[in-house]
Amino acid sequence: MGILMTTKTKHFLSSIKTHQETKKIDKFEGTLSDYLSIVETDPTLAELAHRRLYNALTGYGVTKMSEADPRCRKVFNGEEIKTYDYFQSHFFGMEQSIKKIMRFLHSASLKGEESRQVLLLLGPVGAGKSALVEHIKKALEEASPIYHIKDCPIREEPLHLIPRSLREEFKKTYNISIEGDLCPVCRHNLLHEFDSDYMAVPIITSTFSIRGRRGVGVVPPMDPNTQDTSILIGSEDISKLDLFPEDDPRVLSLNGAFNVGNRGVVEFVEVFKNEIEFLHTMITATQEKSVPSPGKQAMIYFDGVILSHCNEAEWNKFKSEHTNEAILDRIVRVNIPYCLEYTQEEKIYKKLLRSSDFNCHIAPHTLEIASMFAVLSRLKPTNKVDSLTKMKIYNGEDIIEKGLIKKVDINDLREEHRDEGMTGVSTRFVMKAIDNALADSDKNMITPISMRDALIKQVKEQVTNEEDRKRCLLFLQKTLHEEYLRTLEKEITKAFVSAYEEQAESLFNNYLDHADAYVNATKVKDRVTNEDMEADVNFLASIEEQIGIKGTAKDNFRADITSYMFAKLRRGDSIDWKSYGPLREAIESKLVASVKEISRIVTKSKSRDNKQQKKYSDMVQTLVKEYNYSEDSAEEAIKFAANNLWRDS
Ligand SMILES: Nc1ncnc2c1ncn2[C@@H]1O[C@H](COP(=O)(O)OP(=O)(O)O)[C@@H](O)[C@H]1O
Ligand SMILES: [Mg+2]
Repeated sequence: MGILMTTKTKHFLSSIKTHQETKKIDKFEGTLSDYLSIVETDPTLAELAHRRLYNALTGYGVTKMSEADPRCRKVFNGEEIKTYDYFQSHFFGMEQSIKKIMRFLHSASLKGEESRQVLLLLGPVGAGKSALVEHIKKALEEASPIYHIKDCPIREEPLHLIPRSLREEFKKTYNISIEGDLCPVCRHNLLHEFDSDYMAVPIITSTFSIRGRRGVGVVPPMDPNTQDTSILIGSEDISKLDLFPEDDPRVLSLNGAFNVGNRGVVEFVEVFKNEIEFLHTMITATQEKSVPSPGKQAMIYFDGVILSHCNEAEWNKFKSEHTNEAILDRIVRVNIPYCLEYTQEEKIYKKLLRSSDFNCHIAPHTLEIASMFAVLSRLKPTNKVDSLTKMKIYNGEDIIEKGLIKKVDINDLREEHRDEGMTGVSTRFVMKAIDNALADSDKNMITPISMRDALIKQVKEQVTNEEDRKRCLLFLQKTLHEEYLRTLEKEITKAFVSAYEEQAESLFNNYLDHADAYVNATKVKDRVTNEDMEADVNFLASIEEQIGIKGTAKDNFRADITSYMFAKLRRGDSIDWKSYGPLREAIESKLVASVKEISRIVTKSKSRDNKQQKKYSDMVQTLVKEYNYSEDSAEEAIKFAANNLWRDS
C-alpha cells in the first residue's frame, strides 16, 4: 500500500526533479578540441584563480556610494567609496577593509605582484575575519563550474595538455598564455592510458564546493606535535605502495589543502598558530607557483588564492622573529578592525539575531545603547572632544554646541590613532549580554535598562584589566545612562504632545518669520489676521535660550539661520524644522520644556487623577503604535523616566 502523497511534498518533489534535470544539462564531457572552441568563444574560462575569484565577487555589482548619502560626506569625508554588492547586506561598517581586500584581488587578477602574495586579514577576535573569508569562499560555490581534466586530483586546467612547443602559437592564436604543466598523475595517465595522445584525454566540468573539498582547501591551526605537511600537500597512500613501484604517481593521494584549493582558495585559519616550518610550503606556493609533491615526484603547479587570518598578538610575536622574514615578505596585510559606527554595529546585532531562534520583544533603543557601548569601548580617547562626541562624529552626526555645528575634522581624529578599532569589546561580547538580558527577563523582552544591566554585569565578570573595566563601567553607568535619558525624554515628549510634528513645524515657521523680520528690520505678517506686527524678540529668545544662545550671539544666530534657509530655498531645496541642526535641537527642547510639568505629574503613578490616568494610557498607546514599544516596555520606560528625569525636587 502506497503512502498518499501530500500537497507540499508533491510540490517539493517537482522542484527536486527540475533541479536534477538542470544539473544534468550542466554536465559537460568532451575533449581538448571541444574545449578549444569553448575557450575561443569565452576566454574567461581559462583565467587564473585570482581573476576568477575577483570576477565572481564583482559580478554581483559594484556601486559607487552616492554623494547624497550622508555616510559618504560625513563618515568617508567625501572620499570616493565603492561598495561591493556581494558584501553589502552581510557586512556593516567595513567598507574600507573590503575595499582593501578587493584592491588586493584586483591587482592579483592582473597578475601583479599580489598574485604571488598571501592575503592576511589581521584583527581582534570577533571582527568578522572568519565570516569574511567564509563569504568569499561561498562566492566560488555560486560561480560557474570550471573545466578540467577528468580524474585529475587537482582538477587542473585542460590547456596544460598543450605541449610547450605549441604554446607560442597558441598564445598568438587565442591571446591566452598558458601557465603550468601537467601534474604527475595526469602525466602518467597521458603516457600510459592515452598513449601520449593528448587530444584523447577527456575533459569535464565541475563546480566548487566547500564541503566537497573542490577548489576550497582549509588549513586549521595545528598542534605542533601533529603538524604534518600531508595536510598541505597530500601523501603517499601506503596501501598502494605494494601495488605500484615507489615512484609511480598512482600511489599519490593528492588531497592536501594546496591540492584541493588549486584553482580556487586555500585558507589558513589562525595562520601563525602554526610552526614556521609548516608554513614553508606557503612560500614556495607563492614564489614559484608550485608545491612539493609527496614522495619523489616533481613539484606540482599551483594556482590559487591564499587567504589567511590571525589576531594581533600572534602577528606581533611572529613578526618579531627575524627568521620569519621570508614569509613576511610574501604577506599583504589588511587590518580588519571592529566597526566604529554605532548605527552599523547595530545592524550586525540585528543580522545575528535574525539568524538565531531569538524571539522576543526588543524595546526601542536597546540595541542602539549596546552598539554605542561597543563603539565607545573601542575608541581611543582624544583631547579634542569627549568620547560620546567622538562616537557621534564617527557615526556621521552633526555635533551642536552653543548654537553652532561643531567643526571637528573626522580625519584629524582618525589620524591621531591609526590603529583604532583593534581593541575594545567584541561583537560576541555584546551578543552574550543580549542573551543574558533575555534569560533574566520575566516578560520575554529586553530593554535599554535590562541591556545596560546585563552589560555592566558582564564587564564586571569578564573585563580583567582594571583601567578598561573602569572606563567601560563609566560609559555604562554615566555616559550612556545620561544619553539614554535624553533620548527617552524626547521620545516621551513626542508621544505626549499631540501632533508633535505640526507643532514643531509651526514653531519653525514662526521662528523664521520673526527672525527674518528682526534681521531685515521689517514687519511680520500675521498668518491668520494678515496684520503687520513687530518681530517678537521674546518669542525668538525663548527658542534660542534652549540651546544656550544669549546676548549678542542671538543676532548672529538669527542672521545665520535666515541666510541659511533662504539660500536653501533659492537653490530650490525644501526646508522644514529639521533642516538646520541647531534650530531643530532648540525646537525639540522647547517642546520638551513645554510639557515637562505635565509629564512629571502624569508619569508618576501615585499622583494620577482620572484625567491624568487617561493621558497616561494614551501616551502608552502612542508609544506602542508609533514608536514600536510593547505595552510592558512602554510602561518600563515611563517608569524609568519618572524616577530619573522628573524627580520631585
Ligand atoms: N562588520 C561586521 N558586519 C557583519 N557581521 C559582522 C561584522 N563583524 C563581525 N560580524 C559577525 O560577528 C561574528 C563573529 O565574527 P568572526 O568572523 O567569527 O570573527 P573573527 O574571525 O574575526 O574572530 C560573525 O558572525 C560575523 O558575521
Ligand atoms: Mg575567526
